[in-house]
Amino acid sequence: NTSQHAKYYDILRDAAVFYYKNLRVHPEAMLYLEKRGIHMDVVKQFGLGFSNDAWAELLKSMSQKYSTKDLESVGLIIANKDNTSYYDRFRNRIIFPIINPKGKVIGFGGRVMDDSLPKYLNSPETEVFNKSQTLYGLNLAKSKLSDKKQLIIAEGYMDVIALHTYGFTNAVATLGTALTADHGRLMRRYADEVIICYDSDFAGQKATLRSLDVLRGLIDKVKIIVLGENLDPDEYLKKYGSDKFREKIDNAITATEYRINHLMQAYNLNNDQEKIEFLSKAVLIIGELSNAFEKNLFIDNLSNQLQVSRELIAQEVFKENYNAN
Ligand code: CTP
Ligand code: MN
Ligand code: MN
Ligand code: MN
Ligand code: MN
Repeated sequence: NTSQHAKYYDILRDAAVFYYKNLRVHPEAMLYLEKRGIHMDVVKQFGLGFSNDAWAELLKSMSQKYSTKDLESVGLIIANKDNTSYYDRFRNRIIFPIINPKGKVIGFGGRVMDDSLPKYLNSPETEVFNKSQTLYGLNLAKSKLSDKKQLIIAEGYMDVIALHTYGFTNAVATLGTALTADHGRLMRRYADEVIICYDSDFAGQKATLRSLDVLRGLIDKVKIIVLGENLDPDEYLKKYGSDKFREKIDNAITATEYRINHLMQAYNLNNDQEKIEFLSKAVLIIGELSNAFEKNLFIDNLSNQLQVSRELIAQEVFKENYNAN
């Protein structure tokens, strides 16, 4: 209920302030952020913090004001095995508060400063935190969309922070979960166009294909940026800068281009058998397009690229289309 939720928001806000102040007195944490190119102004903007390398610092500080039951309900503390005591969920981690579009802190992410695992820890699902309905950075991005009403969607905390720092203030991220239809509907409230910019590693490519399926029918304009070299947006920006990234946005490809390119990678097109297999699957992808002009464009491209008669490809594409209806 609402008064309960209001209390949870208070607790989470207080915790964010606790972590934020705590960062100032931990030079090792400040140094970590500095090394990753995050300066004080960005720390402030995103409200970043630090949780101590201790078992119950937050608990100690906050249990004067709030019950352990409430602290547990918002995911900040965890009961030990026999329920006799509690300990802090986030320990020795850089803290990323997750803030909803209304400006309420609803959860946290925490990153280790070395190679230990898990690299990130997130708040559990609570009454006020639903991961599949939350986009990190939307609280900042929503008021900074240009007339184009375009959102960039990345994988993680550091990507959103880097993108905003380099001027791409329309960036948001799903957090360790696959993109859901709820995410899609949330984006649709703010944007007309969504640009997917996931890590370019294999996992990111698979996630891109999945997200394209989820967004089909939800968002009319979806484009994809392929960074290459296994880079993620944070790494790309640091290596190549914002002008190059801007070019990537301008050259973002459509869902169908992405699907065909991705499919093509799996085949050796100099081998006739593989070429046939590729073509048989490619015509299915093209057949799904509703616009005949667009279909034609892809048919032309394939025909030129693979030296196969355009009529033959077209015949297969429209045959598949016929079957689908
Ligand atoms: N993630 C998570 N739990 C993990 C690993 C990842 O929740 N154990 C989520 C985080 O939100 C993370 C995102 O998935 O930001 C992407 O993961 P990854 O690419 O591995 O991390 P980066 O965001 O690149 O983080 P960094 O640059 O700090 O290594
Ligand atoms: Mn310390
Ligand atoms: Mn990744
Ligand atoms: Mn990454
Ligand atoms: Mn990264």
